[in-house]
Amino acid sequence: MQQYDVLIIGSGLAGLTLALKVAANKKVCLISKRGINDGSSNWAQGGIAAVLADDDSTEAHIQDTLIAGAGLCDAAVTRLVAEHGRETVEWLIAEGVPFTREDDNSGFHLTREGGHSHRRIIHAADATGQAVQKTLAEKVRQHPNITILEEHIAVDLITAGKVNMEGSACLGAYVLDNITGKVLTIAAQHTVLATGGTGKVYLYTTNPDVSSGDGVAMAWRAGCRVANMEFIQFHPTCLYHSEAKSFLITEAVRGEGGILKLPDGTRFMPWHDERAELAPRDIVARAIDFEMKKRGLDCVYLDISHKPADFILSHFPTIYRRCFELGIDITREPIPVVPAAHYSCGGIMTDHIGRTDIPRLYAIGENACTGLHGANRLASNSLLECLVFGQAVAEDIIAQPQQPEVTLPYWDESRVTDADEEIIITHNWSELRRTMWNYVGIVRTNKRLTRALHRIHLLRDEVHEFYSNFRISNNLIELRNLLQVAELIVNSAMERKESRGLHYSKDYPFLADEAVPTVLEPSNYYSLLDSHHGHEPHEHH
Ligand code: FAD
Ligand code: SIN
Repeated sequence: MQQYDVLIIGSGLAGLTLALKVAANKKVCLISKRGINDGSSNWAQGGIAAVLADDDSTEAHIQDTLIAGAGLCDAAVTRLVAEHGRETVEWLIAEGVPFTREDDNSGFHLTREGGHSHRRIIHAADATGQAVQKTLAEKVRQHPNITILEEHIAVDLITAGKVNMEGSACLGAYVLDNITGKVLTIAAQHTVLATGGTGKVYLYTTNPDVSSGDGVAMAWRAGCRVANMEFIQFHPTCLYHSEAKSFLITEAVRGEGGILKLPDGTRFMPWHDERAELAPRDIVARAIDFEMKKRGLDCVYLDISHKPADFILSHFPTIYRRCFELGIDITREPIPVVPAAHYSCGGIMTDHIGRTDIPRLYAIGENACTGLHGANRLASNSLLECLVFGQAVAEDIIAQPQQPEVTLPYWDESRVTDADEEIIITHNWSELRRTMWNYVGIVRTNKRLTRALHRIHLLRDEVHEFYSNFRISNNLIELRNLLQVAELIVNSAMERKESRGLHYSKDYPFLADEAVPTVLEPSNYYSLLDSHHGHEPHEHH
């Protein structure tokens, strides 16, 4: 058994920020299920929203966030995050992140994105996430108080109740070493879930493979409430090409003048919203979905080719290169695009300092629902949220008294065998992703949601049986979690009897008078996975 002060599960911007902020005072273990840089943070393109321009204001950032959030943002949290924008970005600059400067070197270039009333997005060309991730990951690697375990996937949290100890606190986690196949028991004074998004639950997504909702599923199984899971943000412009898996075309392309067109070159966004291409993304994604379905199109087109080639090359070098490899010259021709699942606005419910329902368990980054995003996240507010809450949780942990160390039971594999075949995992994974795309996508109906839930339950039961009898693997853990997350998304969508923000239902196309978050409590939902929890052959002690 390994003992640490802080166990951080996930090495994206949320996890790295916390690790660096807390490590001067605490012994940290940072685990990551693939390489340290494999996560959405590394793929972020557009940038980080922060009030940096003289003509901008915190009030304007707050207002823009509240408007996008469609009545469901927590006002205090929104203010807290907007007010910390400048300070957290200055920390990144001090750490050495190479943000793009103005041509005359007078300051940092700020780009514009949908829903923002000002130029507010600080960025590193069109690969902001990579610049931030690389800089912070190097610092983390050099820190003597941080142990990094790559290729280690957290399986489940260890709570006091689960191991027959007094109280309800989180005491650590069981973690599978993907290389050796052994399950470690890691005990910690504080455990922090920073596992990122849930995009892999959908067939089409901008997310990397690691985004399988592990944190939300683990927290739910441990007894935390989750909120607003129906609000899945579909990014309007994911590259549409048979050889391109999950490649985003940043919103900044529209911010810098890109125009959405039908295959015949007609501009269509002004028919849907007066803000045209710069309307918030739910509106743009629904407009594209509407035009594609109405006309039977495979994709629409995003055209920036009217801008000078050197402008395009300097602002969007990554996108230019990737499209060029696939035979598309974006300085001369439009880019084929489709909407794809991009961001989960809901997640593990936390308070304004990242605390969950379980003592000594925190959640930060995309797997948390802090109240910032409400029913729809404003572009580039996510990286900002990772920074602000990474800092807040570090301060809270440093202020906590030391708890006595405990001895935790080992993971028991005495009653399981090696899996006889893997086909159930690959088949069920692809069936789940198709079901979610077809029935729980941009436009929803009661009938589609009911169909989806039936299928999810069938798949869940099969996977549960498999999980109970065979040795666990990375893919099995992810599939189990994806099924849990899918069920939470559908149950949340069924609870919302209106259309608000990112949730649009044909059966309830109106906006209710009162904006109420969807909060799911584990004890109110029967789930086969939950009911067997604690009796699984793997988890004896
Ligand atoms: P991630 O960066 O996804 O990191 C999650 C980490 O958890 C990974 O290290 C992963 O391996 C690990 N992990 C997951 N499960 C486990 C487990 N069970 N055990 C161990 N480790 C685990 N937002 C913006 O604000 N601005 C942008 O410009 C922007 N562009 C984006 C572009 C793309 C293509 C995508 C996909 C998202 C973009 N977003 C953007 C959203 C933003 O990048 C993410 O919301 C944010 O990076 C999430 O950070 P995170 O630290 O919470 O998670
Ligand atoms: C983008 O660059 O379009 C993504 C920005 C975001 O998701 O916040």
